[in-house]
Amino acid sequence: MPEEVQTASAAATRAWGSRLAGHLGQGSVVLLFGELGAGKTCLVKGIAAGLGLDPRRVHSPSFIMVNLYEGEPPLNHVDLYRLEEGEDFSDLGLEELFSGTGVTVVEWAERLPVRARPLPRWEVYLEHAGADSRRLRLRTLSAGQPFG
Ligand SMILES: Nc1ncnc2c1ncn2[C@@H]1O[C@H](COP(=O)(O)OP(=O)(O)O)[C@@H](O)[C@H]1O
Ligand SMILES: [Mg+2]
Repeated sequence: MPEEVQTASAAATRAWGSRLAGHLGQGSVVLLFGELGAGKTCLVKGIAAGLGLDPRRVHSPSFIMVNLYEGEPPLNHVDLYRLEEGEDFSDLGLEELFSGTGVTVVEWAERLPVRARPLPRWEVYLEHAGADSRRLRLRTLSAGQPFG
């Protein structure tokens, strides 16, 4: 899996997400970092497709913060956009999702306090690099790394 790519279209970002999904399985956690329009939801659609789910089912879970897509494995789609700083996120049930058997992908992971980010995990940083161009950087953090 290349650690840094520049995609020239939403389709290319989805394709990269599908490829990433090939490395994911039960209990995998992927944190997505990047501003509005960076392509996070687009990437989740690609991950969903790569897991064999219908990407058309993927929509930003902005108000309820968590969407669950049944599948094998199931995909838990979290969006923390509306999480206020200092707000109690414990009742969102993220720990259960992180320790469960699905794949969990979190948009706006910068809103999740570092202590609440599980190990091991994947992180993807998405940045605008032009109108239809995005830079995607992938990072893996393993359970052995103390300062995740
Ligand atoms: N290379 C690209 N990768 C991802 N999205 C892109 C790209 N180029 C243009 N876009 C557009 O940018 C927008 C990204 O939206 P979205 O995935 O909802 O972002 P976010 O969830 O990060 O707010 C979509 O309208 C998409 O079509
Ligand atoms: Mg989004």
